[in-house]
Amino acid sequence: MDPSHDLCSDKTRQRSGCYLTRGVIVEDGAFLGPRVVTMNDRLISHLRLNQPFVPKPPRICRKARIGGGTLILPGVTIGEDSLVGAGSVVTRDVPPGSIVAGNPIRRVGAVEKTGTS
Ligand SMILES: CC(C)(COP(=O)(O)OP(=O)(O)OC[C@H]1O[C@@H](n2cnc3c(N)ncnc32)[C@H](O)[C@@H]1OP(=O)(O)O)[C@@H](O)C(=O)NCCC(=O)NCCS
Repeated sequence: MDPSHDLCSDKTRQRSGCYLTRGVIVEDGAFLGPRVVTMNDRLISHLRLNQPFVPKPPRICRKARIGGGTLILPGVTIGEDSLVGAGSVVTRDVPPGSIVAGNPIRRVGAVEKTGTS
């Protein structure tokens, strides 16, 4: 996919103050609490001529829920139906259906299956 374009489903909810960097993917049913921020440049290539900007946009999969004030680092995938606690720093991929929280994130539980699609 061309990382210069965002791919943000219409069927998402984003609360106030979210900042989504270029190229981020947000799939159907995802929820972003207030002030969720994504990043896409791991080593901050600003003014580093020998270090070209290679965008690594995060991906937020279907029905994932992101707590307010979460920072999502470049290139991570937040799995389907997962839940990220408020104020987390997401430094690595989040497995589908898991609950994670903290800085850096750690697993604190699993999302209960409700049977809804
Ligand atoms: C992550 C969350 C879903 C966990 O809720 P829960 O399943 O009821 O879990 P608990 O409150 O029992 O906490 C489980 C453990 O995770 C820790 N924890 C919970 N939330 C945390 C957070 N946001 N950051 C860091 N640690 C957290 C708890 O301290 C506890 O640790 P311990 O076992 O060492 O005591 C919840 O705390 C949270 O952050 N929800 C997001 C709220 C939000 O942003 N809503 C946006 C819309 S308004």
